[in-house]
Amino acid sequence: MFKQQYEYYCQLIEEYLDQLPWDQSLICKSMNYSLKAGGKRIRPVLALACIEVVGGQPLDFVKEAAALELIHTYSLIHDDLPALDNDDFRRGQPSNHKMFGEATAILTGDALLTYAFELLAQPSLAPPEKQLRVIRETAQAAGWQGMVGGQVLDTLSQEQNYSLIDIENIHRKKTGALLVASARLGAILGGGTEDQIEKISDYAALIGLAFQIKDDILDISSEQAILGKPVGSDLKQGKKTYVSVLGLSKAEKHLEDTIAAAKRCLADFSDSAEFLSSLADYIAQRNT
Ligand code: IPE
Ligand code: IPE
Ligand code: MG
Ligand code: MG
Ligand code: MG
Repeated sequence: MFKQQYEYYCQLIEEYLDQLPWDQSLICKSMNYSLKAGGKRIRPVLALACIEVVGGQPLDFVKEAAALELIHTYSLIHDDLPALDNDDFRRGQPSNHKMFGEATAILTGDALLTYAFELLAQPSLAPPEKQLRVIRETAQAAGWQGMVGGQVLDTLSQEQNYSLIDIENIHRKKTGALLVASARLGAILGGGTEDQIEKISDYAALIGLAFQIKDDILDISSEQAILGKPVGSDLKQGKKTYVSVLGLSKAEKHLEDTIAAAKRCLADFSDSAEFLSSLADYIAQRNT
């Protein structure tokens, strides 16, 4: 049931991405190279699921959900650049800069980010005030107060003696913020009440944290052939992670506790939140 629904949401996203008015230019080839390389599509899936949980129609807002994947893909292209994590593989194939060169990779990230906001600003089935709120919140989550700010702290972490609180702050920003924005986008566009939007945000903040804890665990315990990106990247770069600060077994326990706390935020939604509850488990159990 969970897997079928997840695949259905992914199919909506893939179909939407395929029908965008791409041309034969280098920039479009490069954007599509990274966009269509695979990827779990967690952010758009989360958005579509949150629309459904508050009683909205996912089919009405596929474009908005897909825009989140454009932002996420941009962040991965830039994250892999030599100036950041210097990783040569992503989603099971050479990183964008390995394929197209650094200049094009930087510009591809820029193009994906701006295109996402073009899509979010196009005519929508949402009332203008909700559309504007989503654009504002998504921009804030992607920018200096969220993901970009977190990435900056992450690059500084190599030289710092970070505590658990510092690491949690980085994770909430660099990974959690876009996941929270994705869930809120769904809850807002789907017509949720303020109370529902807040509960869904609390859930998403916890799965966002859990998502990066799991990412840190996979970085030391998986294999590139399964993960689709290099393992040991954090160690190589001297990054501070949940695993480097807590050790593997405490990080695993923290992951478990965080998932349980996320699920508790769904109590008010009863059966309609079954998918979100399974999504939390999937985040902890995934091997890619
Ligand atoms: C990886 O994100 C980067 C993080 C924020 C941890 P995902 O694990 O969602 O990567 P894809 O989209 O599935 O490739
Ligand atoms: C990336 O964190 C967070 C982003 C905003 C892209 P990581 O650097 O740990 O992500 P991976 O492991 O390269 O996917
Ligand atoms: Mg990184
Ligand atoms: Mg990285
Ligand atoms: Mg990582």
